[in-house]
Amino acid sequence: MDIGNYEKYISAETMMGPSCVRILEELLDKYPLRPAPEDLILDLGCGKGLTSLVIARETGAKVYANDLWVSTEENRKRFMQWGVDGQILPFREDANKLSFKEKQFDALVSVDSYHYFAGSEGFFQERILPFLKDGGIVLIGIPGLKSAYAGRAGELLSDWLGEDAYMFRSQDEWRGLIGSDERMESAAVWEMECFEEAWNEWLSVDHKFARGDRQYFESVIRPYTCFIGIYVKLKGI
Ligand SMILES: C[S@@+](CC[C@H](N)C(=O)[O-])C[C@H]1O[C@@H](n2cnc3c(N)ncnc32)[C@H](O)[C@@H]1O
Repeated sequence: MDIGNYEKYISAETMMGPSCVRILEELLDKYPLRPAPEDLILDLGCGKGLTSLVIARETGAKVYANDLWVSTEENRKRFMQWGVDGQILPFREDANKLSFKEKQFDALVSVDSYHYFAGSEGFFQERILPFLKDGGIVLIGIPGLKSAYAGRAGELLSDWLGEDAYMFRSQDEWRGLIGSDERMESAAVWEMECFEEAWNEWLSVDHKFARGDRQYFESVIRPYTCFIGIYVKLKGI
């Protein structure tokens, strides 16, 4: 994937944090999705839809772009401007109670959002797996705590994140939360390599949240945090 193809879409208006396109690039490079054109991919917590655009362009599949904070009207308008409204459909549903059909999706991708809603035991089995087809693939990229600081999010990150610090978990904690299931064939959790690039691209943007993050980057964000990649492959039939 050539990230240069997406530069014109990446701006203070469409970004909501460290570059989601950079995080997605690493996920797709490591675990390429090779769907058929009629396959359906769920982009869960898609924000302003940047990742949905990349998934659609890179895979050719149809994408359901679901988010909670950003309205379907706003994302629909953007997808029309980008000329991808025939391939990407916007939805606004809470990940805790999705109403999609059972085994509807060939893949699920979630960038910089899974940590907001999926940090309880059994969430993956009860609220994610039912929507995936047999043989399906899950790709997740989220901010987390470096392994050396596991369990210390409150102590180390609260100056920066306040009460949201608990959402930052280590690689091992996420591996435990993904857990196991008879439908799962394999799973991998790793510390991602895109940390510096994803953060630099965000911190250089003129956005009030980026300005806030800049104050904590050297003292908190770089020493204690990382991005965590999660890959799950389901058994075929
Ligand atoms: C930091 S933004 C990242 C958005 C986008 N993935 C990106 O990287 O630009 C986190 C996103 O998670 C979504 N989110 C948080 N809680 C959610 C929930 N319960 N259900 C669905 N989406 C949720 C929000 O709507 C928000 O757009």
